[in-house]
Amino acid sequence: MLKVGFVGWRGMVGSVLMQRMLEDGDFNGIEPTFFTTSQVGQPGPDIGAEVPALKDAFDLSELKALDVIVTTQGGDYTKAVYADLRSGGWNGYWLDAASTLRMADDATVVLDPVNRAVIDANLARGTKTFVGGNCTVSLMLMGLGGLFEADMIEWMTSMTYQAASGSGAKHMRELLNQMGGLRDSVGEELKDTSNAILDIDRKVTAAMRSGDFPTDNFGAPLAGSLLPWIDSKMDSGQSREEWKGGAETNKILGLEDNPVPIDGLCVRVGAMRSHSQAFTIKLKQDVPLDEIEDRLAKHNDWVSVVPNDKDATIERLTPSAVTGTLNVPVGRLRKLAMGGEYLSAFSAGDQLLWGAAEPIKRMLTILRE
Ligand code: HSE
Repeated sequence: MLKVGFVGWRGMVGSVLMQRMLEDGDFNGIEPTFFTTSQVGQPGPDIGAEVPALKDAFDLSELKALDVIVTTQGGDYTKAVYADLRSGGWNGYWLDAASTLRMADDATVVLDPVNRAVIDANLARGTKTFVGGNCTVSLMLMGLGGLFEADMIEWMTSMTYQAASGSGAKHMRELLNQMGGLRDSVGEELKDTSNAILDIDRKVTAAMRSGDFPTDNFGAPLAGSLLPWIDSKMDSGQSREEWKGGAETNKILGLEDNPVPIDGLCVRVGAMRSHSQAFTIKLKQDVPLDEIEDRLAKHNDWVSVVPNDKDATIERLTPSAVTGTLNVPVGRLRKLAMGGEYLSAFSAGDQLLWGAAEPIKRMLTILRE
């Protein structure tokens, strides 16, 4: 039985991973050990079976006894223990949701409905480090996998509408406090529908700009606004999130030597936990729309094509429709005014499921096959 250690299982991504593993009975047939950075010796989580007391996540000798380490603890933890574990001779499987190791030569970025062949080839080659991709990249590939599989894309832009959860739990709370603050600033005025909307708007704007508005985490108002920058700045002028779109997509697909150009703008919006993206895709050829829809829909079990009409779009192609599900709808599919080789598309998907926990969960299942 594989000895599997879990680190960071109480955090936001870790909790979603635990929930999904319990739903699918994934703890059956493995020997799990749960680690902690602060509560050594406390009882482990309830997974319907006996588990040992929590062990110290920094105790290398405990970690070295494992066949697999699954971490959703974050990049600082990876930096603190991974190199020492490997240099100390540990040759187990490291499954990681953090970005730290993603671009390392000996790491494979996992998204098996899209790159199972790459995963299998690297497993056969002896790769032991498997890392989940950036959330927007994974969600984009789950949606557009059919076009990449058919090698139909010459280049692509992705304009994102990213949810607060991508920044973390504190940010989700702050977004809600911002929303509540805006509403409360005009609570009285909203009771009377005859109040002038421009007066209400003036008060809301003043509340948003006031020193009291809760912005410690985002650094600026997000509710009632948006933030067109995510992560640090690269020398290229891209944000790191934008850079990941091209770099990680091509690594996931094994196209590093012949990459598909992918670039765009990443924007934080006031959605809670589902990311959305708008794509402009330059096709290699003018392929009929029905063939495109067919390829997209057949690529995997979770993608669905939403007809390009208003009712279906606002019912099915939104963060509120997909949150908490593994569905990745793709819609707004139409040829753009620039010509038959130019396709628009829009997708939405849960940032914590396919965007974070699910690829790691599934990689653990692959290791058990
Ligand atoms: N970097 C992403 C975001 C989160 O900020 O939304 C997950 O990869």
